[in-house]
Amino acid sequence: MDDAVLLEFARQGVETLAQADPRLYELLLGEYRRQTETLTLVAASSVADPSVLACSGAVLNNVTTEGYPGARYHGGCTFADEIERLAVERAKQVFGAAYANVQPHSGSSANHIVIFSLLRPGDRILGLDLDSGGHLTHGSRASVVGQYFETKGYGLDEDGFLDYDRIRALAHEFRPKLLIGGSSAYPRAIDFRRLREIADEVGAFFLADISHVAGLVAAGLHPSPVDHAHFTTTSTYKQLYGPRGGLILIGRDHDRPLPNGRTLAEAVQSATFPFYQGTPNLGAVAAKARALAGVATPEFRARMGRVVTSASSLAASLAGAGYRVLTGGTDNHMVVVDLDPAGLTGVVAERALEECAIVVNKNRIPGDRRSPLVTSGLRLGTNHTALRGMGEREMPACAELLDRVLAAVRPTGDRAYQLPGGVREAVREEVRRTCERFPIPSYPQALSGVAG
Ligand SMILES: Cc1ncc(COP(=O)(O)O)c(C=O)c1O
Repeated sequence: MDDAVLLEFARQGVETLAQADPRLYELLLGEYRRQTETLTLVAASSVADPSVLACSGAVLNNVTTEGYPGARYHGGCTFADEIERLAVERAKQVFGAAYANVQPHSGSSANHIVIFSLLRPGDRILGLDLDSGGHLTHGSRASVVGQYFETKGYGLDEDGFLDYDRIRALAHEFRPKLLIGGSSAYPRAIDFRRLREIADEVGAFFLADISHVAGLVAAGLHPSPVDHAHFTTTSTYKQLYGPRGGLILIGRDHDRPLPNGRTLAEAVQSATFPFYQGTPNLGAVAAKARALAGVATPEFRARMGRVVTSASSLAASLAGAGYRVLTGGTDNHMVVVDLDPAGLTGVVAERALEECAIVVNKNRIPGDRRSPLVTSGLRLGTNHTALRGMGEREMPACAELLDRVLAAVRPTGDRAYQLPGGVREAVREEVRRTCERFPIPSYPQALSGVAG
């Protein structure tokens, strides 16, 4: 039957892999089991539906082309064109955007495309400091952006909040050509309207990077920057539960002309290709289309509701257990914890928790004196747990598991520690039961005992 061809194709692919390359097959199987059998609280990731992954691995990978639908540089694009148009339409609809580009290979590429299309080497950029939760692409010296442009970072106030008056003062002093808003580790809502006002006052463009909160924005649970910012960027694998990749969106300013006469939308279109990238990854484009269809559903909105309420509950439970939660709570999916008062480093906490089948990530916190590979903090997030159907009711138990491990860890250095075997076994067993009770939807449980 015609519609069974793709099923047969996928089955043959997996079978061939298992037979012809058992080493690689075992590694992939191990990764599958790890994901289904661990409790993941990583704020920067999510889980893509198997239908999204089916698109990423589809035969579209075999289509090489450049350009855009209707204006390609190769033949054979009939279906690729329709798929890209579908992805663009869905991105526009989900975010209420007038323009969408679905070709950026990542969130970083999306930022680079916008930045390099607007600025000349040496131009000024003002963005959130890396240490305060900004992304590398927002101006860090460790990134190409910090090397090619003159960048300055704004920080947070003593309580860990953005201080818009200070950002405004800094913008007036520094006179950037581009102001960037958005963060990798800021647990509070961002006032994009205010940032645009600041950009307008100093004649700067404003780029809003919503990589972390794109799902909340799409669901209406975080104010949207799309009509405030000149450009909005996001990666698609975090809160959109999509493939590796990025999006660039433009709202009401899409047809605003630049000094060279081109509109913002035209500038992004040609900056993506041919200026910055070559061939699009059409499998990823299809997977973005599929993920965006999921984002448009009432179930997604309900999940985003759980993301927010469970993060608040997790923050409250951890604070109740004596942990220093930055900003005292959260407005989004993220909870950032300062481990210094607990006498632990981020890396020790991350490793000890992973031994107990709980996956988190160490994170620098404002003013951190430790390196990015050690850190003094933890960043937790609820994208995964909400997908598993866990909500605010389950978070006190999650916080209790975290606390059981962190309270038992005996650090013997910045990176070394001891953890009593009894705690490890007991927590792994709890995690195993939790994962069984809240399986990842559409991911058959593989029961290898990774977590128990
Ligand atoms: C705020 C922000 N922007 C951009 C990115 C980069 O995304 P990607 O990993 O897709 O390059 C990240 C990812 O960590 C991020 O947190």
